[in-house]
Amino acid sequence: MSDSRPIALFDSGVGGLTVLNAVARRLPHENLLYLGDTARLPYGTKSPLTVQRYAIKAVSFLLERDAKALVIACNTATALALPAIRDQVGVPLLGVIEPGARAAVEALGRLKGRREGPIAVLATEATVASNAYGLAISALAPSVPVMNVACPLFVPLAEEGWTENEVAAAAAERYLEAVRRAGAPVAVLGCTHYPLLKRTIAHSLGPQTVLVDSADSTAAALDRMLPEKLRRLGPAAGETRLLVTDASERIRKVAGRFLGREATSLELVDLP
Ligand code: DGL
Repeated sequence: MSDSRPIALFDSGVGGLTVLNAVARRLPHENLLYLGDTARLPYGTKSPLTVQRYAIKAVSFLLERDAKALVIACNTATALALPAIRDQVGVPLLGVIEPGARAAVEALGRLKGRREGPIAVLATEATVASNAYGLAISALAPSVPVMNVACPLFVPLAEEGWTENEVAAAAAERYLEAVRRAGAPVAVLGCTHYPLLKRTIAHSLGPQTVLVDSADSTAAALDRMLPEKLRRLGPAAGETRLLVTDASERIRKVAGRFLGREATSLELVDLP
């Protein structure tokens, strides 16, 4: 038995394509269906109710297209909407926050107490306000302190391609001052866009802070949770479809940055 239905991934935009890449590497025979809600991006500055409304629409859309499993490849949507839809989807459902929190706790464990301090969570304003990472980290390691830091300008900087210039460096210096002062041994890149600024963030925090991003750990968690009967067997490689709710030339360019190759095949769809 082989199940060819797609695994669906959903993000507010094209930042979740880094998670798509990680899933494609980990599960190369699976067909993947990606939906970026580029018409409504950003989610990170919106209220919980609005993000929930958008996420429910996106998830229904993907289930109607026969998704056999769902990954919410967006930190903000995971933080604000996953708890509300968890019991309603009827297929395996995964967000990026639990895997990201686990990766952070594991990174801290590897330091074997050589460095003291909190796990810093760098994320959008909405994710920070939800404290979803704090709760996920506490569930795994109750005694580890967590500091949440919103870095909203990192999203437009990543989209502009200004990831390593003096503007990005100045934003990082300003946002990350408290993290530097706290001497955080681990910082989670808790937003799809922040891995693009990894070098700038690493430079600002210095070598004492290990940076963690959730793409690979989310793909590994998906691999663990996908039942045998839902898997598509090889040898043929899976196919990927990329759907977006707005498909400007700019979105194509930004998508290419996250994908690591030209995003030639973005299909425009409308969420009813
Ligand atoms: N995808 C969002 C996240 O990971 C960042 C972009 C947005 O604000 O929508 O939180």
